[in-house]
Amino acid sequence: MAEIIDGKAVGEEVVAKVRKLTAELVASGSAAPGLAVVIVGEDPASQVYVASKSKKAKECGFHSVQHTLPAETSESDLVELIGNLNADPKINGILVQLPLPAHIDSGRIIQTISPEKDVDGFHFINVGKLGTGELDTAFVPCTPAGSMLLIERVRGKDLSGLSAVVVGRSNIVGKPMANLLLAANCTVTIAHSRTRDLAALARTADILVAAVGRPEMVKGDWVKPGATVVDVGINRIPAPEKGEGKTRLVGDVEFTGAEKVAGAITPVPGGVGPMTIAMLMANTLASASLAAGRPRPEF
Ligand code: GUN
Repeated sequence: MAEIIDGKAVGEEVVAKVRKLTAELVASGSAAPGLAVVIVGEDPASQVYVASKSKKAKECGFHSVQHTLPAETSESDLVELIGNLNADPKINGILVQLPLPAHIDSGRIIQTISPEKDVDGFHFINVGKLGTGELDTAFVPCTPAGSMLLIERVRGKDLSGLSAVVVGRSNIVGKPMANLLLAANCTVTIAHSRTRDLAALARTADILVAAVGRPEMVKGDWVKPGATVVDVGINRIPAPEKGEGKTRLVGDVEFTGAEKVAGAITPVPGGVGPMTIAMLMANTLASASLAAGRPRPEF
């Protein structure tokens, strides 16, 4: 049976370290790190995520501000708000919750965030730094950064000689994940919906990352014995066994099958999920540290 990788515990360790380093930063005379979270519209899932980000920022001792804008906010008003946050010395990190309403061009909005405050790591400058291996100054997207920390817990920092398969090619997870694994010396393959014989490819992976958003798509017999399996998916599916109308969360990996074969696996919930928010705090602290002329903390 696989080792279950406890993302909740590792996430709490990261947050505890952020809290300690924040206290030290403030004690040395710097302002507390400032995180601005912007949400446009009333999407209930987004509201839950945003509330938990703001709450965690306060727990870390940050200056935490939330801007909740109506769904009909114009693109130019949003650009103006981001301009003000870019210019505000109390703000070190700006997160615009996605998805945005359809009338707003998300791609354009992301590029208006100052790269030094882009704690989501979505700006072209940060994407480019990650792609060229400039990891010392890049902001790396939080979910792949958190996934990488979990992989390091099992495999160490140098993954030389290991083969990695990332299933999913999104800009938020799949592509940055592949770049991080490449920077750690893995031999990396990115697979996606058009990949031929995905099962056979997955079976070659020492590190298998599933980030497709399809419940339990990666089957137990796709997993190489001893592999490290990272399940980025969070899917809500009907659970009639719990009662009528009930639901449960599952990942992109069929957990019960995979855990019999894998060497280590992240559960859903309690795996990658808690790492995402922890890495947002780590990125915000990193931004504040750099702004204060101090070294960037390592996680
Ligand atoms: N929506 C879902 N995930 C994310 C994320 O990581 N960052 C932002 N800004 N929006 C999201």
